[in-house]
Amino acid sequence: MNLLMHYYSLFPLFIFIFFLCKLLFSSSPRDPKNSPWPPSPPKLPILGHILQLGSYPHRYFHQLCNQYGPLILLQFGSVPVLVASSSAAAREIMKDHDLIFSDRPKSTITDRLFYGSKDVAFAPYGEYWRQVRSICVLHLLSSKRVQSFRKVREEETRFMVEKIRQSCGSVINLSNIFIELTNDIVCRVTIGRKYSNEHRKNGVRGIKSLLEDVFEMLGMFDIGDYIPWLAWVNRINGFDRRVEKLGKELDEFFECVVEEHSHVKKMEADGLDLVDILLQLQRENTIGFPIHRDSVKALVLDMFAAGTHTTYTVIEWTMTELIKNPRVMEKLKDEVRTKFKRPEDLETMQYLKAVIKESFRLHSPAPLLVARRASQDVKVMGFHVAAGTLVLVNSWAIGRDPTIWENPDEFKPERFLNSNVDYKGMHFELIPFGAGRRGCPGVAFAISVIELAVATLIHDFDFSLRDEELDMSETIGMTCHKKVPLSVIATLRVG
Ligand code: HEM
Repeated sequence: MNLLMHYYSLFPLFIFIFFLCKLLFSSSPRDPKNSPWPPSPPKLPILGHILQLGSYPHRYFHQLCNQYGPLILLQFGSVPVLVASSSAAAREIMKDHDLIFSDRPKSTITDRLFYGSKDVAFAPYGEYWRQVRSICVLHLLSSKRVQSFRKVREEETRFMVEKIRQSCGSVINLSNIFIELTNDIVCRVTIGRKYSNEHRKNGVRGIKSLLEDVFEMLGMFDIGDYIPWLAWVNRINGFDRRVEKLGKELDEFFECVVEEHSHVKKMEADGLDLVDILLQLQRENTIGFPIHRDSVKALVLDMFAAGTHTTYTVIEWTMTELIKNPRVMEKLKDEVRTKFKRPEDLETMQYLKAVIKESFRLHSPAPLLVARRASQDVKVMGFHVAAGTLVLVNSWAIGRDPTIWENPDEFKPERFLNSNVDYKGMHFELIPFGAGRRGCPGVAFAISVIELAVATLIHDFDFSLRDEELDMSETIGMTCHKKVPLSVIATLRVG
């Protein structure tokens, strides 16, 4: 009896030891091979770190990296999230372990808008992705193809100049003009005509307005992807209905486009747009795998989603930084106004190229790139990363890392003049286009538009501000453009 009493009295002690062990075990977790997990700030039960993200996750992660180091492990609901904020960490993820990190996380929104993620950007890694990626690289975005769109680029750039010329002397919203420029170029190149001025065609909403909704949706946090048992919230608050409606509208739009194209058989000499090329590949069946209609529509949507906002954002930030930094503007004017006579001259303009790199460094259009997913357990910088972890690379933070960049907040293109650092995915200190097998295949396309637009603007106009202060705040979302549009007074250059 006494012995029994003794055990009963020890019972609270056993419970205490049990919870202590559990606490110790969970506060310094180790993987089976005994590597530590990356550091992680305190989190809430169930939600994890979701509520801490705020409106600008890339800025929040940047603060965390100052406290915890370049690799941190967060938890969004039930999904572990690795955030990498140094060039060394990015290199390990996108080069040393590129294959393991080549998958994309599953997303309900992209599944619904991109035909079950049948595009390139959101397709899971695998045979289908390899096929559509090869179509992109070899047929849609090759340097030869980008070259073939030269006439469209030049014409649309001239239209942009004309619009600004007509508003010379009064305040003009340059941001809007840049959106129209990139939308119109991508529209003509992809579907053969401009839709920016059409709000409704056969009862179908125009692409400009549809795209605005696509970008809004892509920037949203879908709680059901992270806490599946809370997915019902999206049904109650109307989110699911909005996504479904948008998916339907996009499909109606792209159905019309594909239908129109399938009745006209154009030849290479007629100037093919990307839908023509896809339908030709589909008809001729020479690439060794079938292309279904949904894939055509998903790929076309990809070109719009990946190519418009990103490109216009760069032109907008570059012009903003130039207006904010008169010394750099003057130096660029010198170069452009002496050298830029024909588009071929862009190749020789080293300062222009440095200005654009500097703009990419400070304003990575997609600050967290496009999320990846670890397909198996792996070690990064000595830390254990579990299969299924969502991976974000903070290219914005890397661009402002003081251990790489002297005076990182200063807009100083000269830092690129005697350097071979480029943005094409080989130098991990500057990765606005990502890197590795999932790196952006649209670099040549984007740069050809950006260089021509910026050089033409600087060549033809002088710009002054309406207000004293330039607002530098960013929008919320997957791509960060200016929150307040760039409004300036343009003056036609004399001489
Ligand atoms: C300044 C302009 C652009 C920027 C900053 C940009 C940035 C990016 C980034 C960060 C990624 C993800 C890379 C990764 O995971 O490593 C990406 C992927 C992609 N981009 Fe771009 N992009 C731009 C322009 C374009 C253009 C003009 C197109 C096509 C017209 C395009 C098509 C794509 C596609 C198809 C993917 C998906 C690649 C894959 O997952 O295999 N991008 N882009």
